[in-house]
Amino acid sequence: MSELVINAYAKLNLTLDILRRREDGYHDLRMVMQSISLHDTVALSQTDTGEMELKSGADFLPADQSNLAYRAAEAFFASTGISNPGLRITLEKNIPVCAGMAGGSSDAAAVLRGLRQMYAPDMSVAELCRIGEKVGSDVPYCVFGGTALAEGRGEILTRLAPMPACWVVICKPPFGLSTPELFGCVQVKKLSRHPDTQGVIRSLEHGDLNGVLRRIYNVFEAVLPEKYGEVFSIKNKMLDLGADSAAMTGSGPTVFGLFTDEKRAEAACRTLGQQYEQTYLASMVNAEPEKV
Ligand code: C5P
Repeated sequence: MSELVINAYAKLNLTLDILRRREDGYHDLRMVMQSISLHDTVALSQTDTGEMELKSGADFLPADQSNLAYRAAEAFFASTGISNPGLRITLEKNIPVCAGMAGGSSDAAAVLRGLRQMYAPDMSVAELCRIGEKVGSDVPYCVFGGTALAEGRGEILTRLAPMPACWVVICKPPFGLSTPELFGCVQVKKLSRHPDTQGVIRSLEHGDLNGVLRRIYNVFEAVLPEKYGEVFSIKNKMLDLGADSAAMTGSGPTVFGLFTDEKRAEAACRTLGQQYEQTYLASMVNAEPEKV
């Protein structure tokens, strides 16, 4: 088995809406998702021992079943009945961790895509997403990629017209945020503002970047505990530095600013980078065309 290397792209939430809390403890969501060029790389090869192994340059990441990439491989072999030859997963991390950018889910999705390429090339993306669903709520979208509407727990996916080209500055404050903790702060009936998701979808269909930019909104911003106020100071800095729009992505705490002007984005990235180590410049990534 020769080595296969796959890019695992980070995601942004152009919108994030919470519709209701479900009986199973999850929430029904409605989100416009977008892949961006900031990515981890996932290499798949075979160990000599026949035992599965996960390696990453980051020693704070688990190398066992608590890593989503490891669980994705187990779920793939269990669902397909194919026997695990002793898979070696090597992660090169660039996406900030515990950041709201689906880094772990994206690594898991890359493992699934790679295993499909190696062992089950006829499997549809929808089938692969169903395996991903067992690993985590964001994994199906990460398998799907590009511009998409994610509903339900995150697993009901609809392809959207691609996001027009623009530049994004990503800035993560020096703390993490727990997704379950933030969901715990939400009382859905008390949310007074919801994103105009339909407006975003319409704007995408018309290739109207400004229409998208003025509708970017994440309901988690409204329930963010005061101790995480730095998120808003980064968002305001992003806007002061010329971002056409800015928001927190996912369950945070990473803030992204979207720029129609590349030079301005580069300058904002340099300025924020002086204060925040985890600051990156990236662009939009479209989905790979393939059978769904
Ligand atoms: O599915 P995943 O393990 O990524 O979800 C992590 C946690 O986020 C869940 O245990 C739940 O608390 C919360 N969550 C939710 N509704 C969703 C997705 C996640 O409440 N749609």
